[in-house]
Amino acid sequence: MAHKIAVIAGDGIGPEVIGEGIKVLKEIERLDDTISFEFDFFPWGCEYYLKHGKMMDEDGMERLSHFEAIYLGAVGYPGVPDHISLRDLLLVIRKGFDEYINLRPVKLLKGAPCPLKGVSESDIDMVFIRENSEGEYYGTGAWLYRDSPQEVVIQDSVFSRKGCERVIRYAFNLARTLGKSVTSISKGNALNYSMVFWDQIFEEISKEYPDVETHSLLVDAASMFMVKAPKRFGVVVTSNLFGDILTDLGAAISGGMGLAAGANLNPERRFPSMFEPIHGSAPDIAGQGKANPLASIWSASQMLEFLGYKKWADKLITIIEEILEEKKVMTPDLGGCASTSDVGNEVVRKLSE
Ligand code: NAD
Ligand code: IPM
Ligand code: MN
Repeated sequence: MAHKIAVIAGDGIGPEVIGEGIKVLKEIERLDDTISFEFDFFPWGCEYYLKHGKMMDEDGMERLSHFEAIYLGAVGYPGVPDHISLRDLLLVIRKGFDEYINLRPVKLLKGAPCPLKGVSESDIDMVFIRENSEGEYYGTGAWLYRDSPQEVVIQDSVFSRKGCERVIRYAFNLARTLGKSVTSISKGNALNYSMVFWDQIFEEISKEYPDVETHSLLVDAASMFMVKAPKRFGVVVTSNLFGDILTDLGAAISGGMGLAAGANLNPERRFPSMFEPIHGSAPDIAGQGKANPLASIWSASQMLEFLGYKKWADKLITIIEEILEEKKVMTPDLGGCASTSDVGNEVVRKLSE
């Protein structure tokens, strides 16, 4: 039976990079009789908002709930306030479909550029598990005495026992499977409720996994170690906001935003999971054919693995590495002069080789 995939290409470079990802998935479908996809395209995003006054249709979540996976480009564009566009499309999906795991590999692929001195592939091989449903992104708060000298804003940060336990346990199980250590990143010295609680739960859960090496770091020190000693990290588990920030840093040390992929997972599969590059809509290069589609193609690889096609998932990573090593067909962010579609076509060509 065909896998039903909802495609939300979104804004800016979103449609450019997702187009290449779809091209690649269609080629795999062509090459493998056992795989078939049914793509449904949803025109939601900032342009849709400017025309219709909403980021997605009212019954959007209900419609998406019938898909196995969502393949997303990027959301957000000048002209629509970011806190509206992201809240009403990206964040509503992550939270509404209880995609509480945001899995982001921070792995230096063969041939990928790295700004750190003396670092090779085996030194940067982490998997970030970012809490993706609550924490600093909970979304409630208040804006009081607006526009007056007494103006006060409150942004709630919500850490539930269930929310912390499940993400930390997921990290430990993954670490066990991969034979890696787990590092928890928090900030208990300053955030005296939320992060003290997080640290306590991390310690509790770690007792269930005596065979797994564990570390606990403060987020400031962790950022320093990611640059100075990235080899210290295997599986990393952290809160929503820290995970957001640290994975851009992770992208910077492992080839850049054009190479950073992410999966928003509902591990129980009660709801669709969503696959997306971690970069945004890149308004500075949108519409110029300069965007690197490899992050989106890597996200497609994550989707293939999720759907049970590990062989094809791995094949795509091998092809990405070949492209990076050969350095013939690369976009400007990687120092090349190829276009977005040149890179997608090269992946397709290599698939059928
Ligand atoms: P960005 O990730 O869009 O861009 C940061 C820098 O990285 C830019 O210089 C851009 O050109 C470059 N870059 C990003 N992706 C690239 C690619 N595939 N190839 C080559 N270069 C690439 O971040 P930003 O500029 O802070 O945000 C732009 C918009 O995107 C904002 O509205 C923001 O809220 C939104 N955003 C959305 C998502 C998402 O949908 N998941 C993620 C991050 C930011
Ligand atoms: C990401 C993005 C989003 C986030 C924004 C656009 C809301 O930066 O996916 O990393 O903070 O999660
Ligand atoms: Mn981010």
